[in-house]
Amino acid sequence: MLKNYTLTNIGQLMGILPKETMLLKGEEMGHINALHNAFVEVVDGKIHAYGIMDNCPETDQQIVNMHGDWLMPGFVDSHTHMVFASSRHNEYVMRLQGKTYEDIAAEGGGILNSAKKLQAMDADTLYKKALKYAEEAIAGGTLALEIKSGYGLSVEAELKMLRVVKRLKNELPISIKATFLGAHAFPAEYKSNHQGYIDLIINEMLPVIAKEHLADYIDVFCDKGFFSVEETTQILTAAAALGLQPKIHGNELGLTGGVQTAVDNNALSVDHLEHLSDVEINYLLNSNTMPVILPGSSFFLKIPYAPGRRMIDAGLPVCVASDFNPGSSPHHNLWFTWSLACLYNGLLPAEAFNALTINGAYALGLSETHGSIAVGKNACFIQTRAFESINEIPYWFAQSHAKKVWY
Ligand code: NIG
Ligand code: FE
Repeated sequence: MLKNYTLTNIGQLMGILPKETMLLKGEEMGHINALHNAFVEVVDGKIHAYGIMDNCPETDQQIVNMHGDWLMPGFVDSHTHMVFASSRHNEYVMRLQGKTYEDIAAEGGGILNSAKKLQAMDADTLYKKALKYAEEAIAGGTLALEIKSGYGLSVEAELKMLRVVKRLKNELPISIKATFLGAHAFPAEYKSNHQGYIDLIINEMLPVIAKEHLADYIDVFCDKGFFSVEETTQILTAAAALGLQPKIHGNELGLTGGVQTAVDNNALSVDHLEHLSDVEINYLLNSNTMPVILPGSSFFLKIPYAPGRRMIDAGLPVCVASDFNPGSSPHHNLWFTWSLACLYNGLLPAEAFNALTINGAYALGLSETHGSIAVGKNACFIQTRAFESINEIPYWFAQSHAKKVWY
């Protein structure tokens, strides 16, 4: 990829923010700063200057004429489970026939099904599968990405997953953050011995992860039928001692204290939030924790959508991510996610754009480098055709609008 170039005649340069803006919340989310007929100068892979074409400086570096195409910051997908062994289309059919996600999990399917398959697969095959998904996501405009473990559920398999993520980090040209989600489900052999599995996480997994720098964050599925508030707190306390900040799966299946546990443990984000009362909203208002909503899993599981409109009206920031995984959200198309967030979480197109860019960057600890057009940030952009209005983008649902990606 080019490192030094100037893009000229950009029809609309969208997502311009002061460099120090880390996130947008409440009413701020409804605005997108844009320049018409603009240029961007990139030096050493960073945004060096931007402005209107009248002010475009003379340059010796390569000029690429955009002929009126639009340019926006790359999407930041702050929540994925991109490393997995195979699809779960059989469970999809079971759900079509009337079973629920929770019924299937209780019968040993779901996450445990994915774990069985991942444990049996070698690291190289897993890597190649994840690489293909990551390359597809990048081509679609996802230019920073989080990947969780959590389909290993044994010491060996969790470490295998995280080493695959490390290899992806090393090989791919975009920023990737790794999240350790050993506490995704209790393996069958620990069904009646939860503490035994928690001890394994704390005493056998976390020390190796810290020593080999295999994770940037820690996640726990703190929800009904999975990890209780007390169990979650125990794991997060051990992880905090090793410097791992939480990003929590919470409030997908009920009002189970996931939000409060996340905030109390200084989580960077709390994700899902399909069940959210005013108590949780007020708790989040007094925190630095980013609420992340995942419309793809609501769509695919046919469960309620997180109340995005209510959250923004209350003054909260909202981030939107794909939750790409084989069980609840087998897609990584953030353009479709954008449309879903508008149609079903009640966001306006501009709010969803900010949710996928600057607020995504916050939810991954990447506000300094990603999520907006600002001098000094990484030059990672999505080029699209010109639209009549930004509102037209999610209107054309279920298609990628990325004509070209720059990173
Ligand atoms: O975010 N809810 C927990 N974890 C994943 C789904 C995992 C699976 O079903 O494989 C999620 O939806
Ligand atoms: Fe998830």
